[in-house]
Amino acid sequence: MTIELKNVSFIYNKGTPLEKVVLKNVNLKIKQNDVIYLLGKTGSGKTTLLYLIDFLIKPTSGIIYVDYQNPYKNPYKYRRKIGFAFQFPERQFFSETVKDELMFSMKNFNIINIDERISLIKDILDIDDEMLEKNPFSLSGGEQRRVAIASAIAHDPELLILDEPTASLDFISEEKIIKFLIEWSKLDKKSLLIVTHDIEKFEKIPGEIYTVNNGEVLRGGYIGF
Ligand SMILES: Nc1ncnc2c1ncn2[C@@H]1O[C@H](COP(=O)(O)OP(=O)(O)OP(=O)(O)O)[C@@H](O)[C@H]1O
Ligand SMILES: [Mg+2]
Repeated sequence: MTIELKNVSFIYNKGTPLEKVVLKNVNLKIKQNDVIYLLGKTGSGKTTLLYLIDFLIKPTSGIIYVDYQNPYKNPYKYRRKIGFAFQFPERQFFSETVKDELMFSMKNFNIINIDERISLIKDILDIDDEMLEKNPFSLSGGEQRRVAIASAIAHDPELLILDEPTASLDFISEEKIIKFLIEWSKLDKKSLLIVTHDIEKFEKIPGEIYTVNNGEVLRGGYIGF
C-alpha cells in the first residue's frame, strides 16, 4: 500500500474566530516497508497529520491517495490496512476487558481466525491470560500502551501508526515495545509511522525522519542506518 499526500492543508474551525491553520501544503509519501518518524514541537500538528493519514478527517485542501484511489469514498476498505494506536491509550479503550478490546477491530473487519490472532498478538506484546480478563482502564500506563498497540495490530494491518508510543512508559514496557517494533519493521510489506519526542529510543529501527514545523513537513534525515 502507498499513501500519498499532495499539497494537503488542514485548518480547524475554518471561517470562525477560532480558525487555526495547522498544516500547509504537505507533501508526503508512505510506501511499503517504509519506517517514518515524525518529530515536531507540541502543538505543531503531528497528531492532526496522523488523523489525515487514517482518513479520520479530510484535508481542507489538497488530495490524499491510497494506491492512487480516493480513500474517502470507502474509508472502511482502506482503514482495514491501517492500525492506529492513539496518543492517549485510555481514550482509545471502550471495552470491559482487554480481550474484548483486542477483538473489536477483528470483528469490525471480519477477521475469521480471531482466537489464533489473539494468542499470537498477546505473545508478541507479552499480555498474559490474567491481563486479558482485566478492565483496560485498570492497567498501568505501560500495560495500557501495550494493549493499545496490540489492538492496533489485531486485524493484521499493513501500516502501523503509533502516536508517541514511548511517552510515560516504564522501562520494561518500553523494552517490550521496542523489541516488537524491531521485528515488525523487518516484516515484508509492513510499514511504520511513529510520532515521537524520543527519537534516540528508536536507533535500532532504521527509518527516515520528518519534522513538522510551522505547518510544513520537512525531511530531516535518517536514524539507525
Ligand atoms: N479538535 C480541534 N479543534 C481545534 N483545534 C485543535 C483541535 N485539535 C488540535 N487543535 C490544535 O491544532 C494544533 C495541532 O494539534 P495537534 O494535536 O495535531 O499537535 P501535536 O503536534 O500532536 O501536539 P502534541 O505533541 O502536544 O501531541 C494545536 O494548536 C491544537 O491546539
Ligand atoms: Mg499529538
